[in-house]
Amino acid sequence: MSSLVLGIESSCDETGVALVRTREHGVPELLAHALHSQVAMHADYGGVVPELASRDHIRRLIPLANQVLAQAGQALSAIDIVAFTRGPGLAGALLVGAGVACALGAALGRPVLGVHHLEGHLLSPFLSQDPPEFPFVALLVSGGHTQLMRVDGVGRYALLGETIDDAAGEAFDKSAKLLGLGYPGGPALARLAEFGDATAFALPRPLLHSGDLDFSFAGLKTAVLTQARKLEHQPCELQRADLAASTQAAIVEVLVKKSLKALTQTGLLRLVVAGGVGANQRLREQLNAACAVRGVRVHYPELALCTDNGAMIALAAAMRVQAGIEAPRSDYAFDVRPRWPLHELAAA
Ligand code: KG4
Ligand code: ZN
Repeated sequence: MSSLVLGIESSCDETGVALVRTREHGVPELLAHALHSQVAMHADYGGVVPELASRDHIRRLIPLANQVLAQAGQALSAIDIVAFTRGPGLAGALLVGAGVACALGAALGRPVLGVHHLEGHLLSPFLSQDPPEFPFVALLVSGGHTQLMRVDGVGRYALLGETIDDAAGEAFDKSAKLLGLGYPGGPALARLAEFGDATAFALPRPLLHSGDLDFSFAGLKTAVLTQARKLEHQPCELQRADLAASTQAAIVEVLVKKSLKALTQTGLLRLVVAGGVGANQRLREQLNAACAVRGVRVHYPELALCTDNGAMIALAAAMRVQAGIEAPRSDYAFDVRPRWPLHELAAA
């Protein structure tokens, strides 16, 4: 018997809602998803303002839920399970999603499931045209996380390495800010980098030869700061583009080399790339080229599902339920986990 799962994402600056149907076998089916990005609202402040984010999630969630129900041609009463992002993320923003999910669950008399945001990212490539198979190495690169994981199945995640300071997305965002680019910085820096020479500035590749699978991006940010200050005295658009391209090249090189190392170390021939930075075209090109010569298959989420969205939350809940790992709860006593390491998500 299949279940209709409503997924709610509200951990940061995107409000996402989706409807997914579980299947007896195979990947759950995505029926509809809708997203509202708060980017324009936060742009004036140069970054996400948590209080504004929470208030906007409150405004958007119910209309988005109605939108996906209409798109899928489903009635509210047809929902079997309500899933929401329990963490990690901004506490206030998470509480909005948790509150709405539990209120809906209680009103409908349906159980509720709290989902790990990174598990959503990790499983999102299963909704692509070219879904992966277990086991695989996952490179999770978002605004808050940079991790390499070994994934053996739903809920079976082993941490191989992670950043000891800034996340890759943070490195993009902070460098973009130093270059006078707006928020969100990652896509803006990538766009400027298209016009630059990636070899123009010799920037550090921190921990590239550390022998382990950890990352560090704080030193890179300092190096970019030093170069950006020099450019302030002789403003030249081309040099800014060169610095953007060199920064992107440094981040991408570290991500690619460490991913290859993780593949060698685990002996696996499949790589899944997830999280917002996974939308970066340069990263995709370099990973594809490096993996092709090693016979490694690389899987990405659809571009629209790379950054935060409700589909990945509904999907992760549906895959957990399908795998029999977790039963949704019916007590509606919700809590959120703003800090929640993925490897603490043990399969029952
Ligand atoms: O996964 P995500 O939407 O949110 C978090 O869970 O953090 O990732 C957002 C991050 C931001 O740091 C953003 O700048 C970065 O992903 N990002 C990119 C690109 N698109 C989004 N970074 C580099 N190139 C891109 N094209
Ligand atoms: Zn995310």
